Amino acid sequence: TELAHTDHADFMSKEIGEQPEVAARILDELTPGIADGSLWRALELPPFDRIAIVGCGTSLNAGRVIGTAFSRHGHVPHSAIVASEASSTIVEPRTLVLAISQSGETADVLRAIDQVDLGLSSLVAITNNPHSTLARRADSVIDSHAGPEVGVAATKTFVAQIVTGVCFALSALVATDRVDRYHARWLADDLALIPDLLAQSLAVSLESVPPLVARLHAATGYLFLGRGAGVVYAAEGALKLKELSYRWAEHYPAGELKHGPLALVEPGTPVIVIDNDDPRLEGNIAEVRARGGEVLRIGSIGSDIPALGRGIAEPRRGGIEAWGPLESVVPLQVFARQLALELGRDVDKPRNLAKSVTVD
Ligand code: G6P
Repeated sequence: TELAHTDHADFMSKEIGEQPEVAARILDELTPGIADGSLWRALELPPFDRIAIVGCGTSLNAGRVIGTAFSRHGHVPHSAIVASEASSTIVEPRTLVLAISQSGETADVLRAIDQVDLGLSSLVAITNNPHSTLARRADSVIDSHAGPEVGVAATKTFVAQIVTGVCFALSALVATDRVDRYHARWLADDLALIPDLLAQSLAVSLESVPPLVARLHAATGYLFLGRGAGVVYAAEGALKLKELSYRWAEHYPAGELKHGPLALVEPGTPVIVIDNDDPRLEGNIAEVRARGGEVLRIGSIGSDIPALGRGIAEPRRGGIEAWGPLESVVPLQVFARQLALELGRDVDKPRNLAKSVTVD
């Protein structure tokens, strides 16, 4: 059954491995409704002027990517709200509130939607459980269709939320005349590359990550850096590493390094860089190396973990897609899992954490 992992050492490894097919299944179902706006119209939602994303943990990271799709491709302003801090948030009229939660039962999220005044706004839930409390409270529900996820630390649900959310976002932008259907079709073609990019990233990660972890596992702290669309994946990588290995990890937009975190770098400090071809990263990497830091690049061919997909199918046409280097999450997950295993942790059930946190 789906709930066994006979061919895998643990559920986390099974669920990491499922990501290419999860993405492919979602895209098969949803992409036909992007360029004609039908996916969005079926939700029967009122017009909106801005987006507010509400969520926790990994779901909030996924929500940031979805919010960026609205902003970058449709110039719709978005904000991302940490659910437990939502009480001070003012939601303006004609805001589309996107509450995103794998379980749909996270107390912080449910409380947040109670607290914000939704008077002239609408609430959409993106959840892996369309029968959840969150789904029942929302005006419309988007099922993220990842299938059951057993590992406490989210993996395939993150990819599923992003792929699903971006399809709906692009369809919404067509339905509201912010993106024309030709541009939408062009973006949908780029989305269609995601399953192969994830599969290629997985193969590369399983080969290149374990020897790096074997070399670095004695480190007690890790930095994750990115720029632009890479920052959110740096955040997800640091979160995964903390959850699974119980080591300290921080993420920063690489440009912030010089404003503080560079003081943490000493000989041997691992610094993992999401290298999505921003030329300014070279200077940041040089700053780390000058202090003896161990830079690990997740990038294209020639990097330490050559998991980013240029070289497959056709070029990514400038890489301006809002979802950025989604395939970088695979080596980040594999890295966190491998480090946890080396340190003797239970990767499916990290200490102190729960799959669904129903208390606030
Ligand atoms: C818990 C889990 C995290 C998850 C977060 C949000 O803290 O340990 O992995 O990201 O809840 O869960 P949700 O079900 O709302 O996506």
